[in-house]
Amino acid sequence: MEVCRTVGEVRAAVRRHRERGAKIGFVPTMGYFHEGHLSLMRRARAECGAVVVSIFVNPLQFGPREDLAEYPRDLERDLRMAREVGVDVVFTPADEEMYPPGYCTYVEVLGLTEKLCGLSRPGHFRGVTTVVAKLFNIVQPDVAYFGQKDAQQAVVIQRMVRDLNMPLEVVVLPTVREADGLAMSSRNVYLSPEERQAALVIPRSLARAVEAVKGGERNVAVLREMVRGMIAAEPRAQIDYVEIYGWPDLEPLTVLTDRALLAVAVRFGRARLIDNVVLEV
Ligand code: PAF
Repeated sequence: MEVCRTVGEVRAAVRRHRERGAKIGFVPTMGYFHEGHLSLMRRARAECGAVVVSIFVNPLQFGPREDLAEYPRDLERDLRMAREVGVDVVFTPADEEMYPPGYCTYVEVLGLTEKLCGLSRPGHFRGVTTVVAKLFNIVQPDVAYFGQKDAQQAVVIQRMVRDLNMPLEVVVLPTVREADGLAMSSRNVYLSPEERQAALVIPRSLARAVEAVKGGERNVAVLREMVRGMIAAEPRAQIDYVEIYGWPDLEPLTVLTDRALLAVAVRFGRARLIDNVVLEV
């Protein structure tokens, strides 16, 4: 496995794989790997001749009062895990490699980013689309893999790729959960044992909504209040949002007729957790 620190190094590494006819699969990450990341890498490994993974904690997608400084990092462990799943190239640039002095170009997707996490984290998606567009330009993959846990991010990136005619396919893979249902996230390390236990109200409330839809409930306000009520009853939970939008267009809904995204963001102490489920009628 090659570990590249500069744009020049990763471009040369990818070129060598392309010259031998390999399809390039790319998994962009911020590191501190868990099974969710590994599932994306394994899928890329199964589908592509070469697998490239980026590890970059992108300062541009963190707000001034967010957790950039504390965001968990363990490069040695990440490299070991990447090697074990058969990754070919890891790109782990320094901040100045991605944003040299004088950097002033940004990519922004409107509309889709003006709700859910876009409201509670102003500038977040601008940071995500800017870094992902840069990474796509640097690596020039044939396929890029993202997780459904960041559902809004996935649709925003798909829209950017479509709108800017970027020549790659975006594949979105299911959320990977712990045995008790909690969605895997690098930020789960912030949870105390008590908060970790309390956070199970998230998967429980999403599951309850799925059951209610199966049972015939179609009223979006009723479903939203049901989930909100369950989470609010947990004293350690501080709700950021509980919302239901059409999937995958994220249009507002009052009645479920087709597929809808039930998405939540909830704080437990220092950890802001997001999770979602697609409700199918
Ligand atoms: O999902 C993430 O880890 C990040 O938002 C991404 C896509 C790697 C961009 O920094």
